[in-house]
Order: sequence, then structure tokens, then C-alpha cells
Amino acid sequence: MKKKILNLISKIKNKNITIGIVGLGYVGLPLALRFSEVGFNVVGYDKDDKKIIKLKKYKSYIKSISDQELIKKNFIPTSNLKILSKSDAIIICLPTPLKKNSKVPDMTYIKNFASSIKSFLRENHILILESTTYPGTTREFFLPVLKNCGFIPGKNAFLIYSPEREDPGNKKYRIKDIPKIVSGYSDNCKKIGNLIYGKVAKKTVEVKSLEHAEMVKLYENIYRSINIGLANEMKIVCHKMGLNIYEVIKAASTKPFGFSPFYPGPGYGGHCIPIDPFYLSWKSKQFGYSPKFIELSAKINNSMPTYIKKNIKKILKKDKKKLFKILILGIAYKKNVDDLRESPAVQLINILQKENNFQINFYDPFIKKIDSRNKKFKDINYFNLKYNKLNKFDLVAILTDHDKLDYKKILKYSKIVVDCRGRFFNIKDKKVTQS
Ligand SMILES: NC(=O)c1ccc[n+]([C@@H]2O[C@H](COP(=O)([O-])OP(=O)(O)OC[C@H]3O[C@@H](n4cnc5c(N)ncnc54)[C@H](O)[C@@H]3O)[C@@H](O)[C@H]2O)c1
Repeated sequence: MKKKILNLISKIKNKNITIGIVGLGYVGLPLALRFSEVGFNVVGYDKDDKKIIKLKKYKSYIKSISDQELIKKNFIPTSNLKILSKSDAIIICLPTPLKKNSKVPDMTYIKNFASSIKSFLRENHILILESTTYPGTTREFFLPVLKNCGFIPGKNAFLIYSPEREDPGNKKYRIKDIPKIVSGYSDNCKKIGNLIYGKVAKKTVEVKSLEHAEMVKLYENIYRSINIGLANEMKIVCHKMGLNIYEVIKAASTKPFGFSPFYPGPGYGGHCIPIDPFYLSWKSKQFGYSPKFIELSAKINNSMPTYIKKNIKKILKKDKKKLFKILILGIAYKKNVDDLRESPAVQLINILQKENNFQINFYDPFIKKIDSRNKKFKDINYFNLKYNKLNKFDLVAILTDHDKLDYKKILKYSKIVVDCRGRFFNIKDKKVTQS
């Protein structure tokens, strides 16, 4: 092995390299903090000035990260791209959304960033992509940049893919506890990737090629999408047959092999599960195969808000009122997070509002207003939760079962509860309907 590579390896082992994180969002910020926690110097680049100003004042914008955690001498946040020239490893945590109103990957963030790095790439630079994406992305977007700059990947520049597997809000599994999938363009790249991530995660799992590593992440998310879809469909079947889906899942979970529990809900949400699977279905079609499970599970999961609306209408039909007051409890896409992206609660609110005879209010302990991306709302009021005032609503629907909510009080003071998360699955009370 060349002396320069051995020197780089020794620097990584001694945490004597600077890590540059690109995109300080849900993935990039915790990762930056983890690298600085273990002793690396870290520079964090985000084009959003507002985020950088907050970080400089040690004000967190991510619920699972406290202000205190931001106070680190070896972490410099900035909106100046040039700072990356000072880093030895550049870890890209940029968004990979779908194009508007389509199921086609929007690679703009990755593409633009790849072309912007030409100006400061230097010998022995390490490029790592963490964003979730289709197999072939790392090679397609970053290999040409390295080569065009005159570098020989694997010899004097290093290309790595290592997907983020973070589960926001999950206190049990943080970055350090989750085995890190790593792959690289060459054996040297893999070695360097393993060394870097070995410093922040308990375990690294080396995968054969960049494309295999990209596929691993998609497979994990597709697995979830399909299993959530299965749980949601079985919920409908159970409702029709007068069975309790939670009782079924609870008992099935006692099987020590071959079964992993997934739970039904009002649909699915977040930046990953409703989106990432379509990266693969799009790519797979280019290879002449249209995957079936991906589209089917999305169809079932996306139909859940409409299913819930129908149940709500059925319950309220007995009453002849002209206007029904409904409270949506929890609007984040899952419990204990403040993330509204692709939230099924937002979809339900949109659907309910089209009915005209519903006046909708919401309460979420982590979200006080619905951001500009969801401005489709009309007259949606924030209800400052007072449990003993819940009886002013004709119906209370639990869309997100945040641990912060007091479920005993919800049950006590509400007139009708529509429980979309199985919080009251073993409670026999006429005012509760599972949905
Ligand atoms: N959120 C999750 O739970 C999660 C988990 C695993 C993987 N992922 C994947 O990780 C990637 C990032 O997701 P996220 O949830 O952190 O997204 P995010 O939207 O929370 O963060 C992305 C950040 O990138 C910044 N940004 C956008 N364009 C930029 C540019 N040109 N230069 C610098 N910064 C820029 C944005 O301001 C934002 O802060 C995606 O591919 C996602 O699929 C997300």
C-alpha cells in the first residue's frame, strides 16, 4: 500500500482528520454531533442560513437533539461551501425526494452538489454518500467528478456509500448502536469507510459493492412499507370480521422465529418509507421489470386516511347535527417526533375538510402550526389542549400516539374516541372505536 494511504489510515485511526458533513438535517446533524462526540474535528455545511444561525447560538431545530448537545468546540456549522475544502472526508446527507406529483427520483440535490465540489477536491479526499437512493447513484454522480479532476479512485481519492439507518425519536438505537453498512469503489475505499465508521458505530458491515449497499437500504425500507401495508390491510379485514388486529399481532409475536410485528395505523409517513421504495421501482423499470409489492403497499397505505374518514362519518351519521367539531390528536407522522413530512394525519385533515360539515382542530405536543408545504388547509385551528375541555368536540381522533399525551384523561373527557393507533385496543368502552 502506498505511503500516502498508510498515512491517511493512521490519521483516521487517530481521529486526526476533519469530517465535513453536507446537509445538517435529520440525518446530517446527529451524525455531525456523533463524529464530534468521539473526538473528530467536524465542519457542518448547510445552505439554509436560518439553521446555521440557530446552530451557532446552540439552538436545536430537531426535537431529539437538545440545545446542550450542540455545545461542542470541535463542531463548526457554516453556510459557506468553501469550508469543505478544509475537510478530509465529505459525508453527503442531502435530500433525495421524488419529483413533484410523480414517483420519479429528484436527483437535483445530489447532482448539483456533485458538480459544486470540483473546485475544492484534492488528493486523498474521501467522498461518502449517505442519502438513500437507487443502486448506481454513487458511481453515476461522483465517480466522473473524481476522474474529471484527475484523481484515481481507490488510489488517491476514495468513494464510499454508507446509508443512514437512523430512526428519529428512537432512544434505544442511536447512531452508535446501529451497525453501519459500508461499501466502496475499491478495497481501499472499503477499508477507509470501515475505519471511519468504526469510530462512530459499534459495528460496521462491509458490503460487496456500492450498488449492493445502496440496495440494502432500499430493501430495508421496502420491507417496512410492505409490512405496514400488510398490517393495515389485515386491520381492515379484522374490522370486517369483528376481530381485534392488535390481539392477533400480540399473539403472533410470541412466535420465536419467522414473524416480526408491524402495526397498523392511519397510513404511513416520514421522509423515507413513502418515498424511497419508488427509487427502486423507477430504477427496476429501466431494467425491464415493474415491481408489484412496492406499488401495492403504497396503494394500501395511502388509502388508510380515506378508510378512517369513512369510519368517522359512519360514527357521526347517527347524530343529525349540521356541523361536527373534530379534534385530531397528534399530527406528526409517528409518535414522539416533530416531523410532519408525508404525515397521514395531514392527509386525513385534507380529506375531512372537503366534507364541509366538519370543523377540524388539532393538537400535537410538538407541532403548533402546519408549515407552508401543507397550506392546503382552511380554518385549521390549534387547540391548546386542556383535557377537561375535550368534551366540546363531537369526536376525538388519535392519529399519532405521542407518549406525552395522557390517555386516561383523553378517555375520561372525550365524547367519542377514534383510535387509529391501537392505544385503547384492550379497553372495552362504547365510546372508543378502533380505526
Ligand atoms: N430522516 C430520516 O429518518 C432518514 C433516515 C435514513 C436516511 N434518510 C435519508 O437521508 C437523506 C437526508 O434526509 P434528511 O431527513 O436528513 O433530510 P433533511 O431535509 O432533514 O435535511 C437535508 C438538509 O440538507 C440541506 N440542504 C439542501 N440542499 C443543500 C445544499 N445544496 N447544500 C447544503 N445543504 C443543503 C437542507 O437545508 C437540510 O438541512 C435522504 O436521502 C433521506 O432519504 C433519512
